[in-house]
Amino acid sequence: MKASSSVTPSDDDYSRYLRDRIKMLEDANIRLRARLERVEREAGFYEDMRTRYEGEIRKLRSELEKLRAPPLIIGTVVEVIDDKRMVVRSSTGPRFVVNYSHFIDPKDVFAGAQVGLNQQSLAVVSVLPSAKDPTVYGMEVIESPDADYGMIGGLDEQIEEIMEIVELPLTEPERFECIGVVPPKGVLLIGEPGTGKTLLAKAVANRTSATFIRVVGSELVQKYIGEGARMVRELFELAKEKAPSILFIDEIDAIAARRVEDGTSGEREVQRTMMQLLAEVDGFDQRGDVRIIGATNRPDILDPALLRPGRFDRIIRVPIPDVDGRKEIFKIHTAAMKMKKDVDLDTLAGVTESATGADIKAISIEAGMFAARKKKKAVGMDEFEQAIKKVKESKQWDYLGTKEAGVMFA
Ligand SMILES: Nc1ncnc2c1ncn2[C@@H]1O[C@H](COP(=O)(O)OP(=O)(O)OP(=O)(O)O)[C@@H](O)[C@H]1O
Ligand SMILES: [Mg+2]
Repeated sequence: MKASSSVTPSDDDYSRYLRDRIKMLEDANIRLRARLERVEREAGFYEDMRTRYEGEIRKLRSELEKLRAPPLIIGTVVEVIDDKRMVVRSSTGPRFVVNYSHFIDPKDVFAGAQVGLNQQSLAVVSVLPSAKDPTVYGMEVIESPDADYGMIGGLDEQIEEIMEIVELPLTEPERFECIGVVPPKGVLLIGEPGTGKTLLAKAVANRTSATFIRVVGSELVQKYIGEGARMVRELFELAKEKAPSILFIDEIDAIAARRVEDGTSGEREVQRTMMQLLAEVDGFDQRGDVRIIGATNRPDILDPALLRPGRFDRIIRVPIPDVDGRKEIFKIHTAAMKMKKDVDLDTLAGVTESATGADIKAISIEAGMFAARKKKKAVGMDEFEQAIKKVKESKQWDYLGTKEAGVMFA
């Protein structure tokens, strides 16, 4: 220390030099610290990236695996035997006793549930979330059909009755509650072909704000055993899910014909479908907000079980129009037509005894066609006469007499 003090010009200089140096080093230290911090931050960032990419890789790998996995076979559970095995029916028909994965919650599997089966072992690998048939979903009428009460002629009483039974309980349930009556669950529209049953139901659909589900009876007649019954069950489930709703089953005789033993499996399948229908109609609460409308032109072949109280207990007869009705229907179907002055709807209604609404529509169209063929500007009485003759000849309304009462599978 002594020696160094002797060589340096002054202690002051030396200590200043040291202070400066310390300051410099401190600055350098701060800079390095900041850099370290930055590098550490970056390291953290890259670490994050790495984890993210690793996750991505895992996802893609599993996706790849999924794509490589063989497809599952769709099956329907027939019966759950115990907590290890169940009976399933594959979509091709045969039934199998199979194991099921312990990842499957036993609560999810019930008879009728749709499941995915492994191709080789047919073990149940997954329960399909929606057991609903897309065709059943497709039955919900989303756009209102272009029918209106104003387009129906001569059925004022029927319109009133259907409004009272179908619409009122949905729109003003309190009216029934305060009196203490339970409105009927279902109505059945019966009447000759072409009298406007389908039209009436479509008009209801147009008017109501409730969900309208429409199905034609024959759509429920399926190829495989149990399919029809399943569709009926799903149909009612859909109706309940979308409540308030109106379920319209057109041509209900396709599944609800009187039960006869002819022993064919097709026949038994139709019966099963009908029994499911009966069970479903019985199964829901009368006060609930699901109404059913059935329609048929063959009430004579319907199974009496369907008509007993608590099921379709109100029958609305849609008659062949009388003369006033026919005039009204003529008015509806000729409203958009250009007609000569000589056309008299009263006369037309008078000469079309026993014509149905559909016949009158056909007559109006034919008359228009005749006029168009003759290059006329407007339809005259001549054309109507010709049209009536033509439609009568084509026997569109004569077959009523020839129709035989009987069973549909005979
Ligand atoms: N009362 C009516 N007023 C106006 N048009 C009618 C009437 N009845 C029937 N029509 C006409 O006839 C067509 C067929 O009627 P609709 O389909 O309703 O008959 P339906 O009673 O259901 O017959 P089916 O028993 O054969 O099913 C309707 O589209 C409509 O144009
Ligand atoms: Mg119809």
